[in-house]
Amino acid sequence: MPIQFYPEQKIFKLDTKTTSYVFQVGFYDYLMHLYYGAKVSDADLEYLSYTCPHASHSPNVEHVLHKNFSKDICRMEYSCNGCGDLRGSSLSILRSTGTPDTDIIYVSHKIYNGKPKIVGQPATYAGEGEATTLEVLCRDPVSGAEVTLFYTVFENLGAMTRHIIVRNASEQPMDIQRVMSACVDFHDANDMDFIHLFGNWGKERMFERAPLLHGTQSVSSKRGLSSHAHNPFIALCSRNATEETGEVYGFNFVYTGNFLASAEMDSDGGARVLMGINPEGFLWHLDPGETFVAPEVVMVYSGQGLGGMSRIFHRLYRNHLCRGPWKQKKRPILINNWEATYFKFDEEKLYEIAKTAFELGIEMLVMDDGWFGTRDTAHSALGDWYVNETKLKGGLGKLTERINALGMKFGIWFEPEMVSRDSDLFRAHPDWALQSPNRPMSIARDQYVLDMSRPDVRDYLFDCIKKVMDSANIAYIKWDFNRSMTEVGSALLVSNRQQEVFHRYVLGLYELLERILTAYPNLLLEGCASGGGRFDPAWLYYAPQFWTSDDTDAIERLGIQYGTSICYPVSTMGAHVSACPNHQVGRSTPLQTRGNVAMAGTFGYELDLTKLSDEQKEIVRQQCADYHKYYDVIHNGDLYRLISPWKDRTRCAWMFVSEDRREALLTYVVMRCEIYQRYYIRLAGLDPNKQYRNEQTGQILSGDTLMNAGICIPEVLRDFDSRVFHFIAVD
Ligand code: GLA
Repeated sequence: MPIQFYPEQKIFKLDTKTTSYVFQVGFYDYLMHLYYGAKVSDADLEYLSYTCPHASHSPNVEHVLHKNFSKDICRMEYSCNGCGDLRGSSLSILRSTGTPDTDIIYVSHKIYNGKPKIVGQPATYAGEGEATTLEVLCRDPVSGAEVTLFYTVFENLGAMTRHIIVRNASEQPMDIQRVMSACVDFHDANDMDFIHLFGNWGKERMFERAPLLHGTQSVSSKRGLSSHAHNPFIALCSRNATEETGEVYGFNFVYTGNFLASAEMDSDGGARVLMGINPEGFLWHLDPGETFVAPEVVMVYSGQGLGGMSRIFHRLYRNHLCRGPWKQKKRPILINNWEATYFKFDEEKLYEIAKTAFELGIEMLVMDDGWFGTRDTAHSALGDWYVNETKLKGGLGKLTERINALGMKFGIWFEPEMVSRDSDLFRAHPDWALQSPNRPMSIARDQYVLDMSRPDVRDYLFDCIKKVMDSANIAYIKWDFNRSMTEVGSALLVSNRQQEVFHRYVLGLYELLERILTAYPNLLLEGCASGGGRFDPAWLYYAPQFWTSDDTDAIERLGIQYGTSICYPVSTMGAHVSACPNHQVGRSTPLQTRGNVAMAGTFGYELDLTKLSDEQKEIVRQQCADYHKYYDVIHNGDLYRLISPWKDRTRCAWMFVSEDRREALLTYVVMRCEIYQRYYIRLAGLDPNKQYRNEQTGQILSGDTLMNAGICIPEVLRDFDSRVFHFIAVD
């Protein structure tokens, strides 16, 4: 059994094939954390349990005055506010007395096969025999709060998940000020680095690694979405960890709203990692008997460097987070008209693009922003989700019939959560937008955010989307979201519930997404938020692909896709070939390179194909054929990042290896040309004992030669040039 309880020592041991996570019901029934890392044997559990000297100045109430125990020094399993553990707290509950002191102790536990669903929220899932769960019930004897800690281990994957349920089991109301979904105390973080993914519009998920310092390092969002600025991901790794060696602990929050992720190092070099809903702007009221469910955190330990950690996240998300038919089904190559036409299109222009696209091997036309209401610029009509028949003569039905008749699928853009100031919807229902009494509403991209905590707003949106969906044969929706939230209040909620709006918004969004997917189970949903502003695991539960960034330049995309791949699989990353000079950065790159980079994602095009020369069209035709040829190894294979685009900013390389290690695909891109005689790239992930044929050169070399000596690139490639090499094992 992957999860064991040892009654004598009162120790819980949660094992995967490669990891152990150990904690104990310790002094006075407090839960004490003992260990997380590479697998340890069951024989030494006694050794792992420990005492910590109580310093005279460490606060402890009389009944816990014990010379070997101090909540402020010991490693606690789930830290509480204001009762002696003065490091970052996981839980803070405001009692009806107005005081926020919180203190929980162990009551009971259950261990069972499988993984419970988190009702109404996205989470990883497991089939029969794929996971085991531990629930630990704790109680605060003073406030009457009951707290259940959930732990699930995916034994074969080296991953585990956690979430929390808080129940008001008292007779008085209470308010949750802060509830983290995971807390992990490390006993030695002296030589650890802190990794996170920061960014901005057009520059999402930049990788940053720096020594963990004393004090708290944190990333967060209070924008209402997980955001471009910081991804809900952090990792701690040993200072000597590399891409393929060393220890890495990754934490990723399955939530698309405000979050906090922090690591706090104390003077002894211990560290506490916390991850959960951002307490700023959050206060959740619980009447007696009510419960609150804090979202899931995924925790991955790898002894094989960052690459090892990423591959565990990728497998987990591909197989236990993405759902529905599109989890397995091959994604269609799409052509999106946004960068081809922006708002200036009609049905003939779209048909013309689709016709050319179909001839080249593209399988779906996506009609982007501008098809509804009076939407000819970004300044109007969001919320008015009816077709603009002046633009699309004959309506959506006619257009989709023509596209379908070509043999192509049809997809459409929506930005359901928004309303334009200039829209029929806002004129009719100004109170449907998020707002705070007497406070001017901030505008961004000339739009407001609808209050998704309101059932009437969600019903309206569902009906609008349903009408459109039922009027034509629509295979795909791109679900966009283009601004942060401000003045976050709801006209429907009473004052002591207003700080719940951020989270209620997110729950409302989940409900609407689920409703749409239930009504249209074959729909392929692609998430988008001004590019990749909501690229998080919560979205991947609904949408198996997410538009990675509005920056479509192949060279900029190297960094963006590299950073995104730190925890998200390439099968979820929207990546398109766009026009040159690139619309975002003005750079011109070869069409081959644009294709090679976009192929490390859910492949598509975003340019006016009718303007391509015959020679360029031939390249596109070849790329579409390659996409099918390499689909399996790219989408279901393991990713090995070989050369980081940030290392010296001259080149970047990565490869995919099939699970059986019989096939591999290497992509190499030159960011800035340098003169050299011969250049070697060492491959990774191959079987050292197998021979591989390089399909491009015909050369046969063994796996160990390719991995240790490397593959030689004899010619000097020019700026932005790239090469792809396909390796097949020979028997
Ligand atoms: C956002 C998206 C783009 C495009 C535009 C349309 O910026 O990220 O891909 O859909 O909106 O307005």
